[in-house]
Parts: sequence; C-alpha cells; structure tokens
Amino acid sequence: MDRKDAIRTLKERINIVDLVRRYVDLKRNGPRWMAPCPFHQETKPSFSVDEDKGMFYCFGCQASGDIFDFYARINGLEFKEAMEQLAAENGISLTAWQGGGRNAAQVQQAKSARQQMLRMYELAASHFSQNLLEAQGEECRHYITKRGLAPEIIERFGIGWAQREWRALAGVLHRAGCNTSMAVEAGLLGKSEKSNQPYDRFRGRMIFPIKSLSNQIIAFGGRIIADEDEAKYINSADSPIYKKGDHLYGLAQARRGIAARGKALLTEGYMDVLTLHQYGYDNAVGVLGTALTPEQIKRLSGFTSLLVLLFDGDRAGRKAALRSSEMLLTRGLGCKVVLMPDGEDIDSLLRTQGAAAFEALQQKAPEGLQFCVDVLKELAPKEGVEWARNFLGKLEIPELFSPYATRLAQYLGLSEEVLRQGVAELKERTKNSTGAKPSAKARVNLRDREIMMYAVRYPQRLEDLRRMGADMVLTSGVARTLWEKIEEFGPEEVLYHLDEREKNFWHKCRAATAPPLDSGEKELGALMHYLDNFYSEAQKSSLSAALRENARTGDFTADLEYLRVLQKTLERRDGQS
Ligand code: CTP
Ligand code: MN
Repeated sequence: MDRKDAIRTLKERINIVDLVRRYVDLKRNGPRWMAPCPFHQETKPSFSVDEDKGMFYCFGCQASGDIFDFYARINGLEFKEAMEQLAAENGISLTAWQGGGRNAAQVQQAKSARQQMLRMYELAASHFSQNLLEAQGEECRHYITKRGLAPEIIERFGIGWAQREWRALAGVLHRAGCNTSMAVEAGLLGKSEKSNQPYDRFRGRMIFPIKSLSNQIIAFGGRIIADEDEAKYINSADSPIYKKGDHLYGLAQARRGIAARGKALLTEGYMDVLTLHQYGYDNAVGVLGTALTPEQIKRLSGFTSLLVLLFDGDRAGRKAALRSSEMLLTRGLGCKVVLMPDGEDIDSLLRTQGAAAFEALQQKAPEGLQFCVDVLKELAPKEGVEWARNFLGKLEIPELFSPYATRLAQYLGLSEEVLRQGVAELKERTKNSTGAKPSAKARVNLRDREIMMYAVRYPQRLEDLRRMGADMVLTSGVARTLWEKIEEFGPEEVLYHLDEREKNFWHKCRAATAPPLDSGEKELGALMHYLDNFYSEAQKSSLSAALRENARTGDFTADLEYLRVLQKTLERRDGQS
C-alpha cells in the first residue's frame, strides 16, 4: 500500500478518541472530548478531541493535529515512524514506502549496503560495551568514575571502550563475515597504505554511540582518556548511514523528555549531554561539534518548538548563540539563551555548583529576540537596523512578520515603518537579482488584496466574509484599516472616510473594467475555497507557529484571545456547512 492510501485507510480505521484514550483520561463535553493536556503541564482540561474531524487541539499549548501527530508526539516519534507503527498495529503493510523513484534493484542494493553498515555499527557497539566490562576496560572505568558518570547513564547511552589495539574491531567484523571495504566506507576501519591491512580507527578511546531516531547506531564519537598527543575527540566520517550535521547527540534518549517538558536543552558536547541527563535534564541533546544546522532544527521541531540554548559566555560563544537564535526564530521556533560563566561548560557547572546554579542561570536567560538585540548592541551597535531588516526579510512564516517588526522596532528605538520599508526594499533587490518566486510576504499581500477587492466590490456581503473568517487572515495594516472602516461606516458612508490611497483602490475595484458584479457568487465561492484551505493549513502548522511567538514572550492573553476568536470562527464556519 502506498503512503497516501495507507494514511487514508488508517484514518478511516482508527478512531482518534480510542487512540487518545490509551494515554489520556478523556471526558465527554458536549460535542467534544476533553482532558488535561498530555503535552504541557496543567490540571485543568484544555485538551480537546473532535471525534468527527479526527483532530485534537489544545487551547493551552496549541498542540494540534490528527492521529499521526498525536501518536508521534506522545511517543516521541517522527511522523514516518508513527505512521509505520500504527500501520503495523493495524496489520497494514507499507511495501511501496521507500521506493522514491529509483528502480527496484538500485533501491535494494542501497538498502542492503545501509543495512550491512547498520549491522556493523551494532556489532561494534556491543564489542565496545563488552570491552568496558572486561579487564582491559579498567582504565576507562577509572576515567568514568573520575568524571562522575553514573552507571545508569553509561548503560542508557551505551558508552563503551575501544581498546588500545590495532585490529580488535577488525577481527570482530571479519569473524562476523562483514565486508572490509564496507567497514572502511562506514568509517569504522581504516586501511593502511603500506600493508593494505585494515585497522581500527577508534583505539584507546571512550566511545559515545550516536543513534538515529529509529534507535539504530549510525556513528561514534571517541574521546581520549589520558594525556595524549592526539585529537581529543574523533568522530565517524560521513557515510551512507550518517551525515554530520543531520543528527543530534542523545535525541533518541531525550525525545520522550522533550515531548513531556515541551522544550529541549541544546548543548555542545557529548559530556554535557550525559551530565545533563544524569542531573535529571532528560530533554538534553548535543549538536555534535558543529554549528546548529537547518536539518537539526527540522528534526527537533518535530518534538518541540522551544529550545533552551546553552553557550559559552565568551565573545565567540555569544556570536554562535546569535546565529543559532536567528536560525530558530526565523523558522518560527522559540528559544532562550543561557550563557555559561567564564571557563565553564554545563558539565563542569553542574558538577561544581549543582542544579540550582543552572536553574538560576535559566531564570535570567533572555528570550531569543531580546538576546539577539542585546548582543548586536554590544558587538556591532551600528549594524542593529541592518540586522533587523535582514532578519525580518528571512522570516519563513508570514504571520510572524508583524509581531517581530513591532518588537524589533521597540528594542531598537525605531519606528516600525522604517523597518518595514527597509525590508520591502531589500526584498525588491534580492527578488530582482535572483528572479525568485514570490516571497511568503508577497503571497500574504496578494491574499489580503483579494479579500479586500471582494469586500470593496460587495460591501453588503461583509457579513458573509466575516463568517468565513476572512477578516482574521488579513495581515497588512492597510487591509485591516480598510476593512474596519467598511465595517464601521457601512458600504455607503464609508466613501467619505477613505484616504487617497484607499479611495484609489476603491475606485479601481469598482471600475468599469472590473468583472461584472453578477459574478459575485462565483468570486465568493473561490474566496471561500481559498479560505478553507488557509484555515485547515493554519490549524495544522503556520498558525500554531505564529501563536508560539506570543506564548514564548508570555503574552498569553493575546494568544488565547486570538485562539478563542479563531475557534469561534471555525465553529461559525462549520455550523454552516
Ligand atoms: N569536538 C569534536 N572534535 C574535537 C573537539 C570537539 O568533535 N576535536 C566536539 C565534541 O562533540 C565535543 C564538543 O565538540 O563534545 C565540545 O568540545 P569540548 O568542549 O572540547 O569538549 P567537551 O565536550 O567539554 O568534553 P570534555 O568535558 O570531556 O573535555
Ligand atoms: Mn567539558
């Protein structure tokens, strides 16, 4: 069965109320089912399930979605995994899933190379853990004790020891019938140029296995444990099963914690992740020695929209934190930035000063946008405005534009108009130079324009438009003002209250060249279709992303008000159909 069929079949077969009830104590409440939300801390029920639509929704944290979203989130899975597990539970097999356009033989071959590599990593990981228990693991056990790592953590993260020998793992793999050149390609073995003999790449190192979200080991990090004249860490190179920058250290172990706490702690190193988990922060993950990448953000955003970034407090650390925050914020995620005191990382901080010290740092950690502005003021005071315009131009979610523009203007002591103009110019320039497709912002303006054109041409139908939720998707100030004027003064009198620009627009819309007025029903139909799509999309992703913004800044009242109105609008619309 292919993906689309499977999704449809599963949605038909699985009743969302039955599914949710396995995890949450649902109570009937009118047409809906309600419970305290499993995705954020609360005692009052704001989590609701709509059986007919097959959707859930939380008024508190805005979690929302269908059976797959729920199952993925509550179990800390990715969408695809959730879908596979639900399919398996329901006896549906997903054969055509991995095809992706290549021919069957190629797929089979690539798959089997990957599978062989995964098997080699599995063998290697158990070899390394076994080593740690044996006599030769003594020096590493000693190091582990010195670092204060608890046995549960060693177990949970599958820490191991690569002995100081040249061909220990090579032997294990050979005896298990593994292909040597594939082991080299997988980054486990090296090959000597002189003798052409395979040798172990990880020798005399404490081993940190890196897992995929399907709980398979796909790479290793290895740390020296004595004063040696070698790189402190070495890592598996990229291979068909691992790409540096795509994964996060500890995500497989942290995903439940992240889902339960509604946020993730992002740190740099292997040790930092282990120590955080040991101190009870089971939502901690590591970026693995790179700057945060878009792929990592994508991966994380499946589990949470709020990240707490832990960075060095020095100049380089603050700059890195600025870049990470910018990437997160423009993608609609929220973050807070915790800077470590001089010379400490989170591992050493927790070990020397305990969890209370970390809690105190978190307490005073600034929210992402505030942090960015603060760092800029300090490091590059002249570039603030330029940065802000750039930032606004990069926002991937149009609904975020207004709130961010307002706050940036406030922080920088500028008028919003100045920032907005700058952005428009910037966009115009980049558009001209790259010939790119219309930006998200341009699409929004088009949408506003279409709605307002209808409103102007048929002001007597304003109520219909309102019932369709049209007023709520207007984002530009111009459109909103015009709408409010029509609403306030009515279709006749409003003409006396329009400014030059509005009057122009008004007359253009009603000019003789415009389509005849009797096509109004058709236009309304098209608009309705348009808004329907918008609302079902918005309900799923973009809207909740926009709303997270308020939630993060603590502006819950504005948030809830928006939601309440949206909910009403949706009910209003559903009531009609
Ligand atoms: N790193 C790496 N290769 C190196 C050095 C560092 O991949 N040669 C990555 C590792 O993921 C490491 C992280 O960068 O965990 C941070 O490096 P560092 O601060 O030097 O190490 P710590 O994690 O603090 O390790 P430790 O506390 O054991 O010194
Ligand atoms: Mn450290």
